Amino acid sequence: MPAPAFVALLNEQIGHEFAASQQYLAIAVYYDDETLPRLAGFFFAQALEERNHALMMVQYLLDAGEAAPIPAVAGPQNGFGDVVEPVALALDQEKRVTEQINALAASARDAGDYSSEQFMQWFIKEQIEEVASMNDLLKVVERSKDNPLLAEEYLAREAPGEEGADPTAPPVAGGAV
Ligand SMILES: [Fe+2]
Ligand SMILES: [Fe+2]
Repeated sequence: MPAPAFVALLNEQIGHEFAASQQYLAIAVYYDDETLPRLAGFFFAQALEERNHALMMVQYLLDAGEAAPIPAVAGPQNGFGDVVEPVALALDQEKRVTEQINALAASARDAGDYSSEQFMQWFIKEQIEEVASMNDLLKVVERSKDNPLLAEEYLAREAPGEEGADPTAPPVAGGAV
């Protein structure tokens, strides 16, 4: 049985992951409207990843016989001043999520809930990658501020975040899409 304090925190985290998904959708739509299809595509894919993170947590709770209510989420920021602002927001969000994931792992460990601690290991690794790729993208869009097509070319050339299926990823409730 997962520790009650961990379950409560994980229920909150499901909301944070869905909120991140909505925020990335809002960013993707902004870039799509600016006719920057590679930046839009990158964030549409990130939105789907965040949705899957939420549903990995839902599946963990279901497997453990715990309730997994789907929470309401606060609205995302829509509309941005320039092409850099959304990526800066995304990097802040990923750093915040990293702290939340670490707090979840610490809570599980403190309670002697080693199954939940192990469940969090994949997310710890994932956050290192997400912060790194968002850091890279921020540098690129800052350099491309006056010519966003340079960022488009970077995304076309490097295809960050398109490393394919990860067989170590936890299962997603309803199956991954
Ligand atoms: Fe996430
Ligand atoms: Fe993320």
